[in-house]
Amino acid sequence: MPASIHRIGVLTGGGDCPGLNAVIRVVTKTAITKLGIEVIGIEDGFLGLIRNRMRPLRMDDVSNILTVGGTILGTTNKADPAHFATGKDDQGRPIFEDVTDRVLEHVADRRLDGIICIGGDGTMSGAAGLIRRGVCCIGVPKTIDNDLMATELTFGFTTAVQTATECIDRIHSTASSHHRVMLVEIMGRNAGWLTLHAGLAGGADVILIPEIPYKLDSICEACLERDRRGKRFTLIAVAEGARPEGGQQVVNKIVHDSPDPVRLGGVSVLLAQQIADRTGLETRATILGHVQRGGTPVAFDRVLASHFGFKAIELVAEGAWGQMVALQRGRITSVPIESVAGRQRQVPLDDPLIAMARAVGTCMGD
Ligand code: F6P
Repeated sequence: MPASIHRIGVLTGGGDCPGLNAVIRVVTKTAITKLGIEVIGIEDGFLGLIRNRMRPLRMDDVSNILTVGGTILGTTNKADPAHFATGKDDQGRPIFEDVTDRVLEHVADRRLDGIICIGGDGTMSGAAGLIRRGVCCIGVPKTIDNDLMATELTFGFTTAVQTATECIDRIHSTASSHHRVMLVEIMGRNAGWLTLHAGLAGGADVILIPEIPYKLDSICEACLERDRRGKRFTLIAVAEGARPEGGQQVVNKIVHDSPDPVRLGGVSVLLAQQIADRTGLETRATILGHVQRGGTPVAFDRVLASHFGFKAIELVAEGAWGQMVALQRGRITSVPIESVAGRQRQVPLDDPLIAMARAVGTCMGD
């Protein structure tokens, strides 16, 4: 290990997801016991670096957190140091400033030799900005959306798939009993991974993902065709980012002080009305929302998150700053943070799961 490393910081940025605490636990325990270095927990992601809110993490602080959802450090998806809302103008619009200098002061003040940044593409962008200003960072990829470049999987995704699938299963029984078209809206931003996996696992009859713009006619025909066959209900898994051919995504709200301000949501409600109007079938929509981000991580995510955290500490020991841990061809490796920052990985149209869905008669909306 480079002799100069005495103390590292760890932060969790962006939306929370199951498995964050597993990473914090492994990072802290391994850093203390194997490398003999101190760990400082940075509160609320980059906000803690901007506001100098940090606390030491000791063995006791990370005991009993492996199975706990969320993050003991807190998080925010509104704090990129290079683009931070510091106030509002006369018209109430946020004023963004680059506050990286403030971060550099706090990093020096706390004598942090490096920072482990656990997060999604926004967090990796923030980390890339700090790296360019000389801060040593290692990235660990998390998100229920599974949309980070260069890694086959992020932790949190498998738990969210499980949660969404259980919800689809529950809605299945009402769909079947009441002979309805039931739409289940699933998170994922501009990527359809979560909807595709949960939709397949839950046996959805129609799966709509952002990567395949849908045609209302095709969806209605799938519902009516099932009706004609005596299947008196239809289950539709729809991604929050799904959009009609030639049309737009449905925006739920704009979070003005966030560097990534668009929050999607509501496409299922719109579609439910359109399908009812067009087919005369009874429809209902359920937006799963943040229930998908919460709860205890499934065993797979506990192991993956722990493995990622362990690899992050190995990178610290090697002095391999600027790298993000990644899963490639089933093996844990690392890639430059710069190569993933600000980019999103969507479902490729030739993904075998799409072909498989079509083979079992699932309508993909096109
Ligand atoms: O990136 C995770 C995620 O849950 C997305 O699936 C969703 O679009 C977004 O975050 C919601 O963000 P917020 O918690 O700010 O509403």
